[in-house]
Amino acid sequence: MDADAFRAEFPVCARIAFLNAGSDGPVPTRGAEAAVRQVEHELHEGRAGRPHFERLLGMAGKLREQLAGLMACSPEDVALTRSTTDGVSTVMSALRLGPGDEVLTSDEEHPGLLAPLEAARRRRGFHVRIAPFAELADAIGPRTRLVACSHVSWVGGRVVDAAALAASDAMVLLDGAQGLGAVPTNPHELGCDFYAASGQKWLCGPDGSGCLYVRRHLADELDPPWPNYGSLADPSRPSDLDPHPGARRFDMGLSGPLFAWSLESVGLLADAGLDWVHERGTGLAARLADALAERGLTVSPRGRSTLVSWSSSDPEGDMAGLAANGIVVRYLPGRGLVRASVGAWSNEEDLDRLVAAAVR
Ligand SMILES: Cc1ncc(COP(=O)(O)O)c(C=O)c1O
Repeated sequence: MDADAFRAEFPVCARIAFLNAGSDGPVPTRGAEAAVRQVEHELHEGRAGRPHFERLLGMAGKLREQLAGLMACSPEDVALTRSTTDGVSTVMSALRLGPGDEVLTSDEEHPGLLAPLEAARRRRGFHVRIAPFAELADAIGPRTRLVACSHVSWVGGRVVDAAALAASDAMVLLDGAQGLGAVPTNPHELGCDFYAASGQKWLCGPDGSGCLYVRRHLADELDPPWPNYGSLADPSRPSDLDPHPGARRFDMGLSGPLFAWSLESVGLLADAGLDWVHERGTGLAARLADALAERGLTVSPRGRSTLVSWSSSDPEGDMAGLAANGIVVRYLPGRGLVRASVGAWSNEEDLDRLVAAAVR
């Protein structure tokens, strides 16, 4: 796709150097318009009975297919969640881990993984061990039942050695908040059992959207921790608690405006070509990392990803200073780092502006 045409899909990019998709991606016009159309439809037609419900189910089915297309997996392996955190919570709650079992995680995890992990540990009594992100595979031990870690670290953008994790006997849960939409994310190639991702970040969807890939045999074995109408095989017999086959048993409800926006955002990335989106975002990010390092900043260790972090004695102040210059990045509390998120919608001018303002 033509880079300027793609960028023009995101009006915010005309005003500011928007380098914060690691928190929330830029909103595409077609997503916003679709959400408004859906709200207007509901406003004027009413959310009336069966036709409304069938419409939402149809949208859910299409979105599941689109997301499966991004991950090159079957729609049956994808649950529609509300966030990465929800996906992690689902897995941590569904797995029957207990005393004597160990979950291995890393020193670069987000609260969206650590909080559900800790909540499950308190309920179930398993042991949690923390290893350095880059040494996770070597740290897997005989009691490790699950490795729960980021696909792409939110701290500096390092990419986990998924193949090395997959080579062990432990199950693997990848937190894909900084993965899906940013870098190639094929769960079969990554060899993971679970992949939890966000819709609002690199997929440019609404807040409160996300998905969870679950390896087929595990999906069929695990009970849904929060069953609901759509996650049952037969909602007319709810007390049977018979879950829907596949990952749909982990779905977290229906929303017309949210699905309408998500369908357009994911469709836009698919139209642009996912390989192109990945190549352009990671290529520009590598360029930014080089430019900052050449000018003397300490760039955190990173991989082929869309995140670039650098050390600062006043990260919060630097973020505010950049914002005053129309450049949106974030700082990472407690880490002494400022982080830029570079997407396929970014351009060289955004990067030049950031480099000029960051290097003082
Ligand atoms: C690595 C990582 N995991 C989880 C999250 C939380 O994502 P969500 O808000 O979709 O739960 C984030 C958000 O910044 C993240 O960077």
